[in-house]
Amino acid sequence: MDWGKENRMKRLFRDNGRCFYLPIDHGYFLGPTRKLEKPGETIAPLMPYADGLFCTRGVLRACVDPATRVPIILRVSGGSSILGDLTNEEVTTSIDEMLRLNVSAVGVSIFLGSEHEKQTVMNLAKLVNECEPYGIPVMAVTAVGKELEKRDARFLALAARIFAEIGASVVKTYWCENFEKVVEGCPVPVVIAGGPKTETIREVFEFVHDGMQRGASGLNLGRNVWQNEAPVAAMRALEAIIHHNATVDEAETMYEELKNSQLQAV
Ligand code: 5RP
Repeated sequence: MDWGKENRMKRLFRDNGRCFYLPIDHGYFLGPTRKLEKPGETIAPLMPYADGLFCTRGVLRACVDPATRVPIILRVSGGSSILGDLTNEEVTTSIDEMLRLNVSAVGVSIFLGSEHEKQTVMNLAKLVNECEPYGIPVMAVTAVGKELEKRDARFLALAARIFAEIGASVVKTYWCENFEKVVEGCPVPVVIAGGPKTETIREVFEFVHDGMQRGASGLNLGRNVWQNEAPVAAMRALEAIIHHNATVDEAETMYEELKNSQLQAV
């Protein structure tokens, strides 16, 4: 691996090999998502705990302080919206633009098993072809569109392996039962995705803790942090699981204590 790409990869993972990315790219197909209407305000208190920020070029330019030291993972696929067929994506951003924005990595969604399977796999392939000469890692996002029930170990392991074979440097995938099957079949780091807001934050702590125990390298989780009533408490408790091996109970205690102190401070 050349120095530039290795430098980017080292910045994307802490010395323990783990990472916690904060995604705020939802608007690219969902519009003004709840609690993300003003992305700059949402992320300000969370950035100190993030190892990467996943966003589009529009939000990056309009809402993110260029002085940030947090690595930027640029969302570079799009072209569809929640009103239509989410799987019909193309690459939206040129290599010039990725370099101009000094990104640490780029992210692209792939919809295996959909009508646009080949198109989105080729989006990944072409992006790897464009990014590798400049040392920019590509994060492949396992996407299921509106078919959330697809998220089982068989499908996710198939997807992760294919994305790594095509050239992804990191794979983002949903958590599932027997998550080790996804990790063991994938020769590049696997990062757990979040998903829609859960009823309790403990459910999030449980699946993140389980995924980390079964070999995940980290987490890319948005709504369950910034739609939480105490986003900093949620972020810090998850950071404790990822980087400090906190148990689910320890994370929950930390969350409750931080939440109470935050609410008292308001
Ligand atoms: C959407 C994405 C998002 O980055 C990510 O999945 C959103 O995070 P969360 O589901 O935790 O809100 O890739 O396809």
